[in-house]
Amino acid sequence: MIQDSGLHFAIDRSRKTPIFEQLCEMIRKLAHTGVLKKGTALPATRVLAEELDVSRSTVVSAYEQLVAEGYLQGRRGSGYTVCAIGAVELPHTNITDDTSKAEKVASLRPLTPGQPDMRLFPYRHWAKTVARVCRTNPEAMMTGAGSFGNDSLRQAIANHVREWRGLECSPQQIIVTAGATDALNICFRTLVNTGQAVGIEDPGYKPILRFVSSQGLTPVFLDIDQDGAKLPEKKVSPHIVVLTPSHQYPLGGVMSLQRRWEYIRWANTNHAWIIEDDYDSELRYSGRPIPAMASFDNLNRTIYIGSFSKVFSNTLRLGYLIVPHCLIAPIRQTMDNYGLKAGLMPQQALSEFIDSGDFYRHLRRVRKIYNERRKFLVDELSKNFSHFGSVQNHPAGMQLVFHLNNTLQDSEIAQRAKEAGIALEPLSESTMRNLGYNGFILGFCGYSQDEMSDALDKLHTVFSMVKKVRSDA
Ligand SMILES: Cc1ncc(COP(=O)(O)O)c(C=O)c1O
Repeated sequence: MIQDSGLHFAIDRSRKTPIFEQLCEMIRKLAHTGVLKKGTALPATRVLAEELDVSRSTVVSAYEQLVAEGYLQGRRGSGYTVCAIGAVELPHTNITDDTSKAEKVASLRPLTPGQPDMRLFPYRHWAKTVARVCRTNPEAMMTGAGSFGNDSLRQAIANHVREWRGLECSPQQIIVTAGATDALNICFRTLVNTGQAVGIEDPGYKPILRFVSSQGLTPVFLDIDQDGAKLPEKKVSPHIVVLTPSHQYPLGGVMSLQRRWEYIRWANTNHAWIIEDDYDSELRYSGRPIPAMASFDNLNRTIYIGSFSKVFSNTLRLGYLIVPHCLIAPIRQTMDNYGLKAGLMPQQALSEFIDSGDFYRHLRRVRKIYNERRKFLVDELSKNFSHFGSVQNHPAGMQLVFHLNNTLQDSEIAQRAKEAGIALEPLSESTMRNLGYNGFILGFCGYSQDEMSDALDKLHTVFSMVKKVRSDA
């Protein structure tokens, strides 16, 4: 019994977090810190419900949630005990290396964009799937796949993109990669030579620019208007363009159908290629998913890139490329030449995770939670920050953009926010030229409402301080 172990749960009714969620948080924390050890019996649901003055169903729901997450085992009626949580436990280590500490802190800081909440990861189901593969098909984790990856996963991806992205393709056209970044690397190495031009969106995903420059390629910047990225001017002729049509990074808009067709025709006329970076399209919170551009490109100029980093895990490093038939041989050549290959170990397990429906259950769950967090952040910004700027609300993805009034400068605020423990990504830094964008890209997926609320309180102080200094000057 929990009382025997001297543990006390305290519900804070002034918090916005539901009681059910607070209970889950407390138990997770106690399990992580080792206070609740493997095998410890939790209080009976009726006892805990009475003690906390909450309904019994709230306690049952919290326990069942933690069973699903792999923290607890047992059933209503026969009691719940704590599991070994090796898979989710942070390593106990004596290492006091400052850099490793700094990395951990930096990656957890709110409101860093693009971070899924790994606390929501379905550890237990994933561990079960991995264990089953180890038992029944261990060879699949080590051997038996060509350079394009595990065949079952390629089939699962073909089914996934048909269902979710309206994209018909055969598994032969699919290459499993180490994330979207690796997929871009493979495309660049296959399709362009040093000195050739590559069209990239501006503002856009900064690592792509760095990548283009480091490969000795010439960037051609594509402005963004209400229809999405504008076509390159006639006098410059990129060999490839990298686009985010379903969810422009970072501004968040969707490329119009007309603009998509213009690009496909442009690519066909100029013998150019379109790389469709579809990095987070499963995370759309209203309406139906927008079909991928590659799904209606009957001229076969579009190469599709998908990633499991956002919807599943950014540390598994798995993504995929889907290429027109004519590019299969050249891509294979590049991969063989450079020894590029995604890690095989998790691929069979991921294919079974997708086929069993566990992947979609996880996706539905995180989408719901992320959408609540997104709405919360939009509401808070609209309520409390409207005198500093305005929020651009696109119901998709993992981040939203807050545009600052011109009296404030994003980089200055970001610097001060950093000192207060908040990671703000200045919008001005995601433009490759000086386009006058001034604001922040704010991630909402990786942080609970309480964590965001706390960060926003601190941020408000920072904003007010900078504004005051500005007006006093
Ligand atoms: C627009 C865009 N493309 C590509 C990536 C890289 O994805 P991955 O982690 O799969 O390499 C990101 C990651 O944030 C992104 O925002």
